[in-house]
Amino acid sequence: MSNPKQLSVQALQWNGHSLNVLDQRLLPETITYDEYRDAAGVTEAIASMRVRGAPAIGIAAAYGVVLSAIQHYPANDWQERVATDIAMLAASRPTAVNLFWALDKMRQQLSVDNPEPIAALSQLAQQIHQDDIAANHAMGERGADILGDAKAVLTHCNAGALATGGYGTALGVIRSAHQRGHLQNVYADETRPWLQGARLTVWELAQDGIPATLIADSAAAWLMKSGKIDWIIVGADRITANGDVANKIGTYSLAVLAKQHGVKVMVAAPSSTFDFSLETGDSIEIEERNPKELLAECYLDPDSLVNAWNPVFDVTPAELISAIVTERGVVLDPGKHGVRSLQC
Ligand code: MRU
Repeated sequence: MSNPKQLSVQALQWNGHSLNVLDQRLLPETITYDEYRDAAGVTEAIASMRVRGAPAIGIAAAYGVVLSAIQHYPANDWQERVATDIAMLAASRPTAVNLFWALDKMRQQLSVDNPEPIAALSQLAQQIHQDDIAANHAMGERGADILGDAKAVLTHCNAGALATGGYGTALGVIRSAHQRGHLQNVYADETRPWLQGARLTVWELAQDGIPATLIADSAAAWLMKSGKIDWIIVGADRITANGDVANKIGTYSLAVLAKQHGVKVMVAAPSSTFDFSLETGDSIEIEERNPKELLAECYLDPDSLVNAWNPVFDVTPAELISAIVTERGVVLDPGKHGVRSLQC
């Protein structure tokens, strides 16, 4: 049984002067941490998905700002140089709002006149990291309350410790529910084309001894039809004021299927994932990655003449979601109420 206070796997390790990033492209075969000492390296680590998952890329970017300050301070124009690095980090990936949220916090701290600026930036980045872990534990408890005695759930992508500061959002709820002894099986779909479910989620759950069953993405409808699951639980990359949720491509399909089969959909996300500046999910920029990633996954020559379209997120309308769980509270039926009640 998992210990909720214990971090079974860590995507990011800060050691005061550099950031160690677990290269998630190589999991589960190889566990390798790469050491980064500047913002350019962290930008590349995010863009190439060595580190991925909305909260984790926000935390990595915050540490990237600290590395920039360490590199440039005390040059006369060090703050301008750090601001340039912040713009570079912000351009690494477009959809997860946690990235921009964390960089905004770091930018505000940068503008504060402080005799120890590096210590202040470092402290803030570590606070962002620790707050994320605490939020995940709080969500885990709230989400487990809602699940009650549900026996089996399906999750999509990887919204676990690997995607966050630790413990996970969707997998945090699953960890907490498993701790309570009700949850007997967690289905994880492969999550093509990057295979976050197959390569990361089932591996992460296995580390904690939580029973996990991998399914092909195309088996999800049949799984629901068979009555084997009570809930789908996912994380989010951005949630707009009306409760629309951007998450890994395929989440929308699952939510549509869930409606047909009477399965409920839970989204677990910290408040750093909310974008109240956008009314609806129509305004969210959806990242489209290099088609070669998709072609390679299908064993097609990436330089062949075959076309591929590779959007890596989609938007699930609020009305298809049963519950949005955050560390601040829960909104049931967000399609009816939106999520402004969670705004500070
Ligand atoms: O492309 P990725 O792997 O960064 O996408 C990750 C997801 O879509 C996750 O579900 C989301 O970030 C929530 S992580 C707690």
